[in-house]
Amino acid sequence: MNAIPVNAENKYEVLVDCNWREALKEIAKSRTRVGIVVSASLRERLGDISLGDCDVHLFEIIDGEGSKSAENLQLMWDWLGAGGFTRSDVLVAVGGGATTDVAGFAAATWLRGIDWIAVPTTLAGMVDASVGGKTGMNSSFGKNLIGAFHSPSAVLIDCEWLSTLSDRDFSAGMGEVVKCGFIADAKILEIVENNSLAEIRSSRALTTELIERSVRVKASVVSEDFKESFAREILNYGHTLGHAVELHSNYCLRHGEAVSIGMVFAAELAAATGHLSDEIVARHRRILVSLNLPTSYARDAWAQLLPLLYLDKKSRGRQLRFVGISDIGKTFRLEEVSTQELTQTYERISQ
Ligand SMILES: NC(=O)c1ccc[n+]([C@@H]2O[C@H](COP(=O)([O-])OP(=O)(O)OC[C@H]3O[C@@H](n4cnc5c(N)ncnc54)[C@H](O)[C@@H]3O)[C@@H](O)[C@H]2O)c1
Ligand SMILES: [Zn+2]
Repeated sequence: MNAIPVNAENKYEVLVDCNWREALKEIAKSRTRVGIVVSASLRERLGDISLGDCDVHLFEIIDGEGSKSAENLQLMWDWLGAGGFTRSDVLVAVGGGATTDVAGFAAATWLRGIDWIAVPTTLAGMVDASVGGKTGMNSSFGKNLIGAFHSPSAVLIDCEWLSTLSDRDFSAGMGEVVKCGFIADAKILEIVENNSLAEIRSSRALTTELIERSVRVKASVVSEDFKESFAREILNYGHTLGHAVELHSNYCLRHGEAVSIGMVFAAELAAATGHLSDEIVARHRRILVSLNLPTSYARDAWAQLLPLLYLDKKSRGRQLRFVGISDIGKTFRLEEVSTQELTQTYERISQ
């Protein structure tokens, strides 16, 4: 097990490849009350949830994106109230990114903030959603529009969870892993190039190394820039077009799949504007295809995608802002791209 420090508004550690139950027992020793929020389909896998002398409360939450709603928050606040949760108590979120986002937000808002611990159970949750302190929920106007920065007090990554994850969700999580490779850690890309997807999935050592490297990338970026100026923006590599296709697909695409398409677009755009070699663009496609991730999107979607690009949080006024790379691990801000360049680049990634 390795402990990766994060120095955000509070300091905490991400324990990679730990036994989450043992780690939680240790943490619970200093608490009187622990609230566990668990994704419904994982409830049975929790088994016995007693934690020594602790008073343990359980809240089962519906699976996936639908849980990030005002109705669910109301139910969680009522549960916390009925359980008499105080500022010295702790909430534990067990589930994918949707569960850690919404339970983290409940922790951020109850009594203006109580401690919470993330136990991510998907690959995307382990390498991305649970680290970084962003918590939130959806509004009827869009995804993640309501939220708060509220770092967990620990992140417990137990790779055992991954055994039941669908192949599709594993690949989608790998999209965020290779993103960390492109923006900061060439070794991630080498590992993915030298091992097949099946080899990575079946090897605990390889999976753990990839998770650890990705968490290190995110932890170092977040430690440098907690509340998102440019340093943190690099984590958005591939996300400008990615968010647009995710929304356009009506969330039929997984986030990591949409980011995969977005990274190919960002690479093509950097090449078209003279910043990146064709070889690295080809490397994007080779790696992403080897992970069973999509690298193109419907040609006739462009007219609807272009306005969606302007909803990106990085855009300023009428100015779109992309994260580009000029080499592996070298990021820059890609601005002042004409609509014509965008359209031509989209033609290269669409079919
Ligand atoms: N806070 C952040 O910084 C941040 C970053 C990235 C993504 N997110 C959020 O994370 C969410 C996406 O996360 P996700 O991809 O983990 O999706 P998810 O939480 O919706 O989980 C996907 C599905 O996998 C199931 N599942 C979870 N663990 C499992 C396991 N071990 N075995 C089998 N099935 C399992 C879930 O029940 C769900 O049906 C989105 O809501 C996104 O907005 C947040
Ligand atoms: Zn992402």
